[in-house]
Amino acid sequence: MSQEEQGQQKRQGQQGHEGQEEGQQARWSAVDHYFTDHLAPADEALSAALAASDAAGLPAIAVAPNQGKLLHLLAGVQGARTVLEIGTLGGYSTIWLARALPGDGRLISLEYDPAHAEVARANLAHAGLDGIAEVRTGAALDTLPVLLAEGAGPFDFVFVDADKQNNPHYLEWALKLTRPGSLIVVDNVVRNGAVADPGSTDPGVVGTRRMIEAMAENPRLSATAVQTVGTKGYDGFALARVLA
Ligand code: SAH
Ligand code: DHB
Ligand code: MG
Repeated sequence: MSQEEQGQQKRQGQQGHEGQEEGQQARWSAVDHYFTDHLAPADEALSAALAASDAAGLPAIAVAPNQGKLLHLLAGVQGARTVLEIGTLGGYSTIWLARALPGDGRLISLEYDPAHAEVARANLAHAGLDGIAEVRTGAALDTLPVLLAEGAGPFDFVFVDADKQNNPHYLEWALKLTRPGSLIVVDNVVRNGAVADPGSTDPGVVGTRRMIEAMAENPRLSATAVQTVGTKGYDGFALARVLA
């Protein structure tokens, strides 16, 4: 069984084994494959990045291809020259984002797990993006202050996709490292609907809810969140534009 199929089976398991829900997941995946085949087809570097991640035993939790293309388009619309990513994994989303940047652009991606970072660095080099994209190893809450102290940024685009319980802190750091006009995108804010449960004790859900509420309360931000379905199941993105 491929890692994608394993992941799909796991997600279907999480949804329960009711036939109707499995049929729904199959339909979501079929539509994702149709869109991806036409609008976000894999090329050699993207396929190689996923294959190398799989071979190294990384979990199959990268953004879907059409989601990667969405990040790429958003960074392009943003006219981004600098991108900060929190949560690299094997660098699949990193490749999509780095490809939106001009030749003298700069992407810094923060990754806790040294094994993930090593796979990502090799994938970025193989994609010809090692001159643009850098992976820094360490817990993001340790490496973000270093970035600020270095005078890195302001970043035009921030993609938050790491440990979800720290999402409120990542929003705070994104605000320190951006400028008016920057865009902050956060992955996995729905998690099969769990975000709407105020009684949840799941640290990831609690963290994501606190982050959404912090986005809502911050007059420096204009934010929204959207639900998505597809090969990755039922999930969603939050988007926040820095106003001031
Ligand atoms: N953005 C990637 C997927 C990231 S998966 C893509 O779509 O292709 C989440 C990653 O965050 C994992 O590699 C995990 O090791 C990393 N992570 C978890 N906790 C972290 C932390 N405290 N600091 C930095 N990275 C962390
Ligand atoms: C998980 C993390 C992700 O960033 C993602 O996109 C999907 C799943 C996870 O930790 O299960
Ligand atoms: Mg994610």
